[in-house]
Amino acid sequence: MAKTFYITTAIDYTNAAPHIGHAYEKILADVLARYHRLKGEPVYFLTGVDQHGQKVQQAAQKAGIEPARYAADVTEKFTALWAKLGISYDGWAATTDPRHRQCVQRILQRLRDEGQLYKANYGGYYSVRQEQFLTDKERGENGEFGPEWGDVVYIEEENWYFRLAQHRDWLIAFVEGRPEFVFPGFRHTELLNAVRKLAGDLSISRPKERLAWGIELPFDPAYVTYVWFDALINYISFAGYLSDGGDGLPRFEDLWPADVHVIGKDIMAPAHGIYWPIMLHALGFSDQDIPRLLVHGYVNIGGAKMSKSLGNIVDPDALADKYGAESLRYYLMRDCTMGQDMDFAEDRLVSRFNTDLANGLGNLLNRTLNMAARYRNGVLARTQSDDADVREIEQAAAAAVANFTARMEEYQIHAALEAVWEFVTRCNQFVDSSAPWKLAKDPAQAARLDAVLYTLAESLRIIAILATPVLPNACAAIRAQLNIDTAPALSDAKWAGLPDKHSLSAPVPVFPRIEPPGPPIS
Ligand code: MSP
Repeated sequence: MAKTFYITTAIDYTNAAPHIGHAYEKILADVLARYHRLKGEPVYFLTGVDQHGQKVQQAAQKAGIEPARYAADVTEKFTALWAKLGISYDGWAATTDPRHRQCVQRILQRLRDEGQLYKANYGGYYSVRQEQFLTDKERGENGEFGPEWGDVVYIEEENWYFRLAQHRDWLIAFVEGRPEFVFPGFRHTELLNAVRKLAGDLSISRPKERLAWGIELPFDPAYVTYVWFDALINYISFAGYLSDGGDGLPRFEDLWPADVHVIGKDIMAPAHGIYWPIMLHALGFSDQDIPRLLVHGYVNIGGAKMSKSLGNIVDPDALADKYGAESLRYYLMRDCTMGQDMDFAEDRLVSRFNTDLANGLGNLLNRTLNMAARYRNGVLARTQSDDADVREIEQAAAAAVANFTARMEEYQIHAALEAVWEFVTRCNQFVDSSAPWKLAKDPAQAARLDAVLYTLAESLRIIAILATPVLPNACAAIRAQLNIDTAPALSDAKWAGLPDKHSLSAPVPVFPRIEPPGPPIS
């Protein structure tokens, strides 16, 4: 049996409601997970929520409720949204889960026993927003800490430290020696530069008097664990690392190493590109057992970052209600080049939907099924045709499958979709050029008409396999109309899958046009 494809996404902070950026990341990971299932691989897709830390404590305080209640309420918004958007995760990582707490505490104890942790007094500037001490590196040109750090206060306190700097040379060699550690490549270079600047150790505790909402250090109950140290461990704790078994978690040896961690560009350095590999290395993981990072860009609004203060937060829940979850999935996957930032625009979503889905694929399906019903009572004849244009479509289908697969393997989902929709366009052109309505009038053209209808239905069958990871429900509806009752599999995306005398069902619009565009949601 093939290794389980283990994919994770960054776990979302529960100090605020989910926005379109969070949705983009989950959809991206979901599409990759579904693609691997389509290939017939066992898949484990882990995502979840980062529920501890000062920001949650502060947000709860503001709302006048306990942090646990607050985190649970926000968590519910995430789980409801993921259900609405069709995010097919297998494991749910919530950091307040006692199984996670046990794993974090076991790791801390082990690192302490092995001399990787020490207690020290430190005075420095602390960013409340980012929950970290700042160094001179973080100062701007005038020596100031930029607005991205929020309130910066001077704090002097005793904390527990992880010997990060001790592993600097190992990490440089590791990153240098593994160009595939970070995708896309330009982020690999960016990470290497950040690693070279690494100086100092990592404070992994917060005194309870300042922050009580976290996982207690097993050897010093006056402290809780720094939220990043706690959160990163989710990738292994929920995969069963150090578990005693019998707790509903997977077996660690079945999953690890994860094939890919999907994260946004803001959390590559230092969290996932420096702290995380060093944590794993210090725990005794081999270099081969350190997962790759797939780093995506940001979803922006009008070129600007979404932020509460700008009041430009886009709510994916409302968008899914207005246009349907799969319109949103398609738009985000088709318009964003993996690794780059994208600008969200509601009118783009509408025009993508109308052009590609309603006029493109929807139209092809409708025309094909209507013509098959009208001219052949919905029954196909699988004939061998030597007509050049029929053979061309057959070849274009094979090219679309090859191109789609190659692009998906490179995580270039937008390019994979482009390949599929080039084929959709090609098929619609074939309807126009072959003009079945004319063929139907001439009994001498009966075999040609059979070949054209079969070619179109067969093309739709293949398209509905390829588009499944992005449009799972729409493709299921297309398969139902084509009267196909087997589960979609990439290995079936080969020509001539529909048998002779196969009956098609009546057409039901899958992508009714969105008209008029309507007022924007944000
Ligand atoms: N809790 C940390 C991650 C811990 S993982 C061990 C965190 N949470 S977050 O809620 O701020 O972000 C969750 C994910 O969403 C991150 O990968 C982040 O990069 C991504 N995004 C947040 N805003 C985004 C956009 N505007 N656009 C795209 N992705 C964005 O970081």
